[in-house]
Amino acid sequence: MNKHLAIVTGHSRGLGAAVADQLHAQGWQVLGISRKPRAAPFEEWAADLADPLPVAERLQAWLAERQPARLLLINNAALVTDPGPVAGVPLAALSASLRVGLEAVVLLSGAVLAGAARCPDLRIVNVSSGLGRRPMAAAAPYCAVKAGMDMFSRALQLEGVRVTSLAPGIIDTDMQVQLRSGDPSRFPDVARFVDFKASGALQSAEDTARRLIDFALRPDFDREPLSDLRQV
Ligand SMILES: NC(=O)c1ccc[n+]([C@@H]2O[C@H](COP(=O)([O-])OP(=O)(O)OC[C@H]3O[C@@H](n4cnc5c(N)ncnc54)[C@H](OP(=O)(O)O)[C@@H]3O)[C@@H](O)[C@H]2O)c1
Repeated sequence: MNKHLAIVTGHSRGLGAAVADQLHAQGWQVLGISRKPRAAPFEEWAADLADPLPVAERLQAWLAERQPARLLLINNAALVTDPGPVAGVPLAALSASLRVGLEAVVLLSGAVLAGAARCPDLRIVNVSSGLGRRPMAAAAPYCAVKAGMDMFSRALQLEGVRVTSLAPGIIDTDMQVQLRSGDPSRFPDVARFVDFKASGALQSAEDTARRLIDFALRPDFDREPLSDLRQV
């Protein structure tokens, strides 16, 4: 068995797909977790992280049978609700946003920390956002998820866990399509997101993944519990 194991949530597209593919190309054993597998050349679990408990239990049991020398958990999956005031967001969408973006992060981290407790090099990278550090109207659930993720990382570090919450910058993915397609009457910042694309300000997922992996493998990746890929 490959002794270098990476677990990447949200590996089906966007940043997570690029991270999982690049780690696989570098020789890592990769486990990708998303709702829609994509016939990737590595192990994939089709799982809805809006219901994270069974996934975390499965992961903990799966890890108990493995002894990786190096383990990297990349909590990348997240979703934005359609931008607008919370009052207009269906309750089920609010719940999914919180559960995928935060509950799954906490449960999968717990599963990995317990299931691979003897791993000598266990690292967690939580993919955060500038919006966890500065609020934006029409994205309250997403801001709350990322702020919660940041505090989770800060508190975990106090337990001695090697973790960082990493804001990756703005990336040309489906999430940006969703944001710039928002209804201007409900989303005051929509023009900014339209401009990101028009002005060429978006980073590619591939380049962001390359920099994220380089950072995650640095000896000092967890020097700070909160980090920003644009400043490392
Ligand atoms: N794009 C940006 O500009 C930007 C900026 C700052 C931070 N980020 C962060 O970067 C990370 C990646 O974002 P992205 O732009 O690559 O997003 P994306 O293109 O929308 O991809 C999201 C990924 O999450 C997975 N996912 C969503 N809901 C899920 C669910 N219920 N269960 C399991 N997996 C689920 C999706 O897979 P399935 O649909 O197959 O389930 C997909 O693989 C996120 O944490 C995001 O918050 C992005």
